[in-house]
Amino acid sequence: MATNYETHEYDVLVIGAGGAGLRAAIEASAAGVKVGLICKSLLGKAHTVMAEGGMAAAMGNVDDRDSWKVHFADTMRGGQYVNNWRMAELHAKEAPARVHELEAWGAVFDRTKEGKISQRNFGGHRYPRLAHVGDRTGLELIRTLQDHGIHQGITVHMEYTVVSLLKESGRVVGAFGYDRERARFRVFKAKAVVVCTGGLGRAYAVTSNSWEGTGDGVSLAYHAGAELLDMEFIQFHPTGMIWPPSVKGILVTESVRGEGGVLRNKDGKRFMYDDIPDNYKSQTSTDPEEGWRYTQNDKEAKRPPELLTRDHVARCIMREVKAGRGSPHGGVFLDISWIKEKIPNHAEHIKKKIPSMYHQFMQLANLDITKEPMEIGPTTHYAMGGIRVDGDTQATNVPGLFAAGECAAGLHGANRLGGNSLSDLLVFGKRAGEYAAKFAKENSLVAPSEAEIEAAYREAVEPFERPAGAQNEGPYQVQYDLQNMMQANVGIVRLQNEMELALDVIGKLKARAAKVSVQGHREYNPGWHTAIDLKHLLTVAEAITMASLDRKESRGGHFREDFPEKHPDGGKYNNVISKSTDGSMKLRREAIPAMREDLKQVIEEMK
Ligand code: FUM
Repeated sequence: MATNYETHEYDVLVIGAGGAGLRAAIEASAAGVKVGLICKSLLGKAHTVMAEGGMAAAMGNVDDRDSWKVHFADTMRGGQYVNNWRMAELHAKEAPARVHELEAWGAVFDRTKEGKISQRNFGGHRYPRLAHVGDRTGLELIRTLQDHGIHQGITVHMEYTVVSLLKESGRVVGAFGYDRERARFRVFKAKAVVVCTGGLGRAYAVTSNSWEGTGDGVSLAYHAGAELLDMEFIQFHPTGMIWPPSVKGILVTESVRGEGGVLRNKDGKRFMYDDIPDNYKSQTSTDPEEGWRYTQNDKEAKRPPELLTRDHVARCIMREVKAGRGSPHGGVFLDISWIKEKIPNHAEHIKKKIPSMYHQFMQLANLDITKEPMEIGPTTHYAMGGIRVDGDTQATNVPGLFAAGECAAGLHGANRLGGNSLSDLLVFGKRAGEYAAKFAKENSLVAPSEAEIEAAYREAVEPFERPAGAQNEGPYQVQYDLQNMMQANVGIVRLQNEMELALDVIGKLKARAAKVSVQGHREYNPGWHTAIDLKHLLTVAEAITMASLDRKESRGGHFREDFPEKHPDGGKYNNVISKSTDGSMKLRREAIPAMREDLKQVIEEMK
């Protein structure tokens, strides 16, 4: 063996410490098994905090017409019916209990006048449904789970990177990684592994994801034999900051629109009125006054078009920009300051409802959102596709491997409704923890082979062994080229020839990545970390592109200019990606299982 490494042994190893990872770890630990939690960053620093506006749960606190059935139907319609309907059912039924549990663990939600947990409007949700803490809901969720988890005796490994999952006889039996500070290698032996690594937004140039979002879990699982589902569906959140350049992509919460913010082009026109999709027409208002009343929870009013689903809003923004009606820096305007016409102390109101946005714009753009409109544009925010899991247990097709949260696929179909991510990670994080603990109790610890550990080690250190020079570039240029290429060719609006080019470029980038060289020592070496991330970024980029090329229609987060309509068969299948024995990526279509009759009935009723 060429390296020394420390070994840790757990019953359940959770990789990723955002909301899903923490919730899975808590549940597994509560089941009485020994749990280890690996965190790429510092504990508490997770993309979960970017779900600012709230968590969707049909509690009916603000509008008692809400129920799990309406939430289920909204989620399916938002996902354009390619969702895993069993997950959508479980999610809608279990989300309220997860919110109440979080409150019992110490989360301090905003309240209604009657003292109930307050709920706000978000795009695609028929009723006010998002339990929230101002515009810092994800942060409160993480804080609460962190406090709760720590007291449960979970061992946390902070600032660790996992290089690969370890397998024995077809089963995942652990992981190989290193601590990012000192680069000491570690072998984690585990009876069950839960992957909860979040998103892959860093495969694009403009993203709300921070540096950790490099698709690690999706790639680790894929290389370990797990299937990936519906990778073409990427959510471009309509409102990210676009100016100044250093903050481009940072999220501007949908709550701004939920609280009455409106979108305008450079001519001051509310362009969202120009295109209201047929299936939302009956619920969308064409009267600005009525739209305002909706955001103030008037039960009789219909939603303003700014609160249509994210995929649609993002495309409308791009339409304005392309037509030359955009803002000076290539976006459009989002205005909440106009509510001064409606609310006498509007500045205080805004600072109370969306405090983080007020500070974010003051500090990063020197702009007072109570006085001026913000300049915004779409930002890569979320992957609906990811690791294929069983809806009830979150088990993948590889024994011993589970996944939950953003890196797992199914619940959201072609497009996620805002606020459904926080409830997703609580509902399915809990389920993953429960079933991983069960698996761990039923299976013994198996030692990974030294050969497999050695192979993982060799792969990790190879970039140091290549001399720098014309033949071997550094990793940053490859990463930069990939991000810009994906943004240009596999972004919000897609075309066959551009994606064919993308696939070709990805092949070339893979060849370049296989030769990157890093200099210096392993300790504190960010170039090395980037070299390791490249494999994950390229894996997810290839999967996204391959699935996008295959789906010759437009649906949710996948819009093709050459096939702008939905195909009648498009709602009948999922795209499944797996690794062939020769190491290449292959794709097949799989029919979506027929929905249970009682659930079909629910959808009919809700229409
Ligand atoms: O806009 C937002 O606050 C984001 C929420 C989400 O992605 O669920």
